[in-house]
Amino acid sequence: MAIATTEIKDQKKKINYKDEILRLKEEKNALILAHFYQVGEIQDIADFVGDSLGLAQKASDADADIIVFAGVHFMAETAKILNPETKVVLPDLEAGCSLADSCPPEDFKKFKQKYPDHIVISYINCSAAIKQLSDVICTSSNAVKIVESFPKEQKIIFAPDKNLGAYVNKMTGRNMVLWDGTCEVHDVLEMEAVIKMKAENPEAKLIAHPECKAPVLEISDFVGSTTQLLKYARETDAKQFIVATESGILHQMRKENPNKEFFIVPSDETCACNDCPYMKKNTMEKLYLCLKNEVPEIKLTDQVIEEAKEPINKMLDISRKLNII
Ligand code: 13P
Ligand code: SF4
Repeated sequence: MAIATTEIKDQKKKINYKDEILRLKEEKNALILAHFYQVGEIQDIADFVGDSLGLAQKASDADADIIVFAGVHFMAETAKILNPETKVVLPDLEAGCSLADSCPPEDFKKFKQKYPDHIVISYINCSAAIKQLSDVICTSSNAVKIVESFPKEQKIIFAPDKNLGAYVNKMTGRNMVLWDGTCEVHDVLEMEAVIKMKAENPEAKLIAHPECKAPVLEISDFVGSTTQLLKYARETDAKQFIVATESGILHQMRKENPNKEFFIVPSDETCACNDCPYMKKNTMEKLYLCLKNEVPEIKLTDQVIEEAKEPINKMLDISRKLNII
C-alpha cells in the first residue's frame, strides 16, 4: 500500500502541469479564462484574466472549442449562457459562491411577489435561476451606471448583495429594496482592522471592493471592481495601498507595480490574508485534469439559457450604449 502511494506521488511529480496545460490548450483549441482571485500560477497560464464583466465578454466572444473557466460556478454558468455552443468546463464543481448561495430561487420568488411593481436588478454573482427571475444583470464595475440608466421613479429590487446594493443606493440616491445576501469573504472585513492599518501606513491609499460593508467603503479612497482596483493602483502616484478584497488580486497588483507596496486587510487579528475558499478550490492539477478529460462540464437546459441570457444581454447592451465596456 505504501509503495502504491509513493508510485502515485511519483507519477504526479512527473507531470509538468504548466507544459501539459499549454500543450492540451493548443491541441484542443481551448480558451482558459481566469478571475483575479485565482492563485498566481493559474492567472499566469490563462489566456485572459479579468473581473466578472471582462470574463463574461470574453466568454461571449470566444471562438474556441472549449472554455476552461478558472473561477467559480456562477461565472462558468454565465459563460455557458453567453456561448451555449461551446463546451464550458470548471476545474472543480464545488467552486461555488456564498453570495450566490445566499439567494435561493424559491425564496427569492416569494420575495419578488411582495413587490409586484418593482423591476429586479441582480448582481452577476447569482445562480442562473436567479438570473431567470431578473430584468437586468449588473457587475461590480457597472452597477451604479446600470441602476442610473433607469428613471429615478423606477422601483427596483436589488439582489443578492446587500452591501453592493447599499453602496449603489448611496451613490445614486435611490432606495432600492435589498435582498439580504453577503459575500462571506468581504463581509468579514471590519472597519477597526482597516483603521488600524491606516494608522500604521498613513501614506497608503485604501482601496476596496463594493462587496465590503458600508463603514469600510465610506473611509475608502477608491471603491471598484477587481479590474478597476487594478487600474487605480496602476494609475495613481501613491506608493502604498491597503487592499480590502480577496488576496488573489495581490498577484496582478504586485506584478504590474513592482515598485509599489500592497497590504491586504486582515479579516481578524489572526488572519493575514483573505482567501475565497471557493475560488481557491481550483488548482493547476485540477485545471490540467479538467482540460484533459473535459469534465466537469457546465450543462444547462435551453430554457434556462434563453431566459437567463436576456437580462445579461440587457446589461451588455446598456453598457455598450453608455460606452462603459
Ligand atoms: P469582480 O467582478 O469585481 O471581479 O468581482 C467578482 C467577485 O466574485 C467579487 O467577490
Ligand atoms: Fe463569491 Fe465572495 Fe468568493 Fe466572490 S469572493 S466568489 S462573492 S464568496
